[in-house]
Amino acid sequence: MKRFVPMVAIDVATKQEAIDLFDKLMVKPQPIVKIGMELYYGLGQVIVKEAKKRGFKVFLDLKLYDIPNTVHRAMAAIGRLGIDFTTIHAAGGSEMLIAGLAGLEEGAKEAGVEPAKLLAITQLTSIDEKILHEQQHVDLSLIESVQSYAQLAEKVGLAGVVCSAHEIKAIREVTGDDFLCVTPGIRPTHAIKDDQKRVVTPAQARIDGSNAIVVGRPITQSFDPVAAYQEVQKAFLNEEEEK
Ligand code: C5P
Repeated sequence: MKRFVPMVAIDVATKQEAIDLFDKLMVKPQPIVKIGMELYYGLGQVIVKEAKKRGFKVFLDLKLYDIPNTVHRAMAAIGRLGIDFTTIHAAGGSEMLIAGLAGLEEGAKEAGVEPAKLLAITQLTSIDEKILHEQQHVDLSLIESVQSYAQLAEKVGLAGVVCSAHEIKAIREVTGDDFLCVTPGIRPTHAIKDDQKRVVTPAQARIDGSNAIVVGRPITQSFDPVAAYQEVQKAFLNEEEEK
């Protein structure tokens, strides 16, 4: 099963804080850095360039959701950046997902780089059954909705989904072996949960079949981010066991 190095969520407000983290995290194996809305909307492409300059693979987590034409054009711009992973909301429907994928591929082709892997957001972990039924008026259960979105994403050719490690089993029941499950909500055993409600450890995410874990604050707010990253990386990749 394909397993990626951990993705470190660089959720900080300033360029200097981000660069300090990039400089610290230039270790082997080099993590994938996840740049989200806060950093990208605040600083723009420069932050992606700073990460790439240091050899990082980049997960640009912008969760696109708009009409197909707009998503197509926005994804083309993202594709031109030469990043490695990016995200889109499955709720936008097949036409929007197909347009996003096409835009991403066109942008990458124009720039002469490999297209990023496109991951679907199914249901945000902040959505619970009550919101789903009472506000979104969806009749399916939360997990059925997640399964349905994962199937849709796979059908139109996306590489995988971002999901909770608790959802992997249900997603694997309805998707193929190569479909990626990228899982945030990870906490090393001793770390505090922050605002994550249901967390799993890196080792448990590995056992559950996660292809890649996203870890933010337990690494970025640690007094020793490198040691924290290396601990997470060893627990997730468990190289000893795989030899
Ligand atoms: O600091 P922490 O490890 O909680 O960061 C997790 C990262 O994963 C954040 O960037 C957050 O936005 C993202 N994420 C999440 N849960 C989801 C989707 C994304 O925590 N369902």
